[in-house]
Amino acid sequence: MTVAHNPKVDLIAHSPEQTRAIAAQLARQLSHGQTVLLNGPLGAGKTTFVQGLARALGAGEQVQSPTFTIVSEHDGQLADGQPVRIYHMDLYRMSGPDDLDSISFDDYLSDPEGIVIIEWPDRAVSRLPSEYILVRMENIADTKRSISIAPSASRSATRERQAIELLRKEVGGGRG
Ligand SMILES: Nc1ncnc2c1ncn2[C@@H]1O[C@H](COP(=O)(O)OP(=O)(O)O)[C@@H](O)[C@H]1O
Ligand SMILES: [Mg+2]
Repeated sequence: MTVAHNPKVDLIAHSPEQTRAIAAQLARQLSHGQTVLLNGPLGAGKTTFVQGLARALGAGEQVQSPTFTIVSEHDGQLADGQPVRIYHMDLYRMSGPDDLDSISFDDYLSDPEGIVIIEWPDRAVSRLPSEYILVRMENIADTKRSISIAPSASRSATRERQAIELLRKEVGGGRG
């Protein structure tokens, strides 16, 4: 069910580095147990966005799309300094529940000290939590990408709505 007040941030990035910088601002609003979903076609910049998240969370710069390994793990810190485990998934090659079971998909989502970031989340629709932050990316031109960031519509996505409200105050570019 949708709530009346669902904040949203719509931005344009003109370079990969701008995409990473936007991701870094989102990273500062994240907390333990949250899930970030990244939608958009191949080459839209999903992995580039994850690089920005990981860098801002102190997990280094060497993030690649885990297309073959499906999941990669990184250690980082939240904005308040608490340690966090970052699970970066690329579900492009997943074709159903059996595939998801083979990587223990649900275990990542239930790690209370983790943050799960998922490229191609549509491959796992029935297994996603109802609270998440959705990032939609589109190719507009050569190096121009649209980035839209919103909480899921679930009434229980309170922390996610707060995160996007705070992001919106920092970066503008949205409605609230
Ligand atoms: N504004 C931008 N944001 C993100 N990536 C960009 C941008 N402009 C150009 N690119 C390039 O587009 C490609 C995006 O690749 P990637 O992040 O792997 O996409 P995806 O994970 O969505 O398939 C990279 O080569 C990146 O350098
Ligand atoms: Mg990718």
